[in-house]
Amino acid sequence: MIEITGLTKTYGSGNKTVNALNGVDLQINSGMFGLLGPNGAGKTTLMRILAGIVNPSSGAIHVNGHDLTTEAGKHAVKSMLGYLPQELGMYTELTAGQFVDYMAILKGLDDSRKRSQRVMEVLEMVGLREVAKRKIKGFSGGMKRRVGIAQALVNDPKMLIVDEPTAGLDPEERIRFRNLLVNLAADRIVLLSTHIVEDIGQTCRDLAVLAKGKILFRGSPAEMLKAAEGHVWMLTMSGMEKPNHDLTVVSMLHLAEGTQYRLVGANVNGYSSAQPTQPGLEDGYVWLMKNSNQQVEVA
Ligand SMILES: Nc1ncnc2c1ncn2[C@@H]1O[C@H](COP(=O)(O)OP(=O)(O)O)[C@@H](O)[C@H]1O
Ligand SMILES: [Mg+2]
Repeated sequence: MIEITGLTKTYGSGNKTVNALNGVDLQINSGMFGLLGPNGAGKTTLMRILAGIVNPSSGAIHVNGHDLTTEAGKHAVKSMLGYLPQELGMYTELTAGQFVDYMAILKGLDDSRKRSQRVMEVLEMVGLREVAKRKIKGFSGGMKRRVGIAQALVNDPKMLIVDEPTAGLDPEERIRFRNLLVNLAADRIVLLSTHIVEDIGQTCRDLAVLAKGKILFRGSPAEMLKAAEGHVWMLTMSGMEKPNHDLTVVSMLHLAEGTQYRLVGANVNGYSSAQPTQPGLEDGYVWLMKNSNQQVEVA
């Protein structure tokens, strides 16, 4: 179990500082948990603190009762943690098997017989056993990401942290990778960070939305979507007309009769032809960000 209270992180010093985390309170119990937020929200900072790589500036953070602000606590947590960083440097001249073996040595698996057995086990778990003897440099993006998960699993962690793992994967690889994470979450906490709403809706029962270092929302995907009820419309406009700036365009489609907009906003005063529509998860996210005066990028 992860318990975070009043967590802050400030980078830099003097008059050149960045508040990456601004008083984060968060509890994460089990299964698959999504951390959703735009670029610069503080997701990587939070994960690096959890992984014991970065020290918080203030606040409390405990994992299974271990205090991550102490050296002893960090040490204890590292042994029960698997971490796939946003950018994992890989020695691509190595084979998948050699690389995972190397990472296992770094994690202190000293017995070479047990280690090679474990390496094959984790490669099997991520579906790469057959290509264990192939060099990583020939792998697709999705396969490399799975090698990353394999190295994170080598010490059989109770908590797996994966930072934006689906970025740059093609749709098929993304689905496969998501399914792998769901399976792994059956018997451990999996903490997944992403800026892609879809990644969360399909996989996480629980999520938090982080923006500018603050938690904007904590709940289920269904609750996030519900918040946008009554605030989503479809509106077709002809010619040069554009919806007013109070409305956020979630998507648009060019049709013969004009442009069809999907809009999120407090109301659609003045647009008599606007049709209310059921919110999706992305609408919920846009509504949330909009109400906290955050710029939100939609596809
Ligand atoms: N090592 C660092 N030094 C200074 N600023 C940093 C550092 N790492 C992150 N930041 C800043 O902290 C903020 C949060 O970054 P980050 O945690 O990487 O967010 P995310 O992963 O959500 O994109 C950003 O404004 C970023 O520029
Ligand atoms: Mg990041």
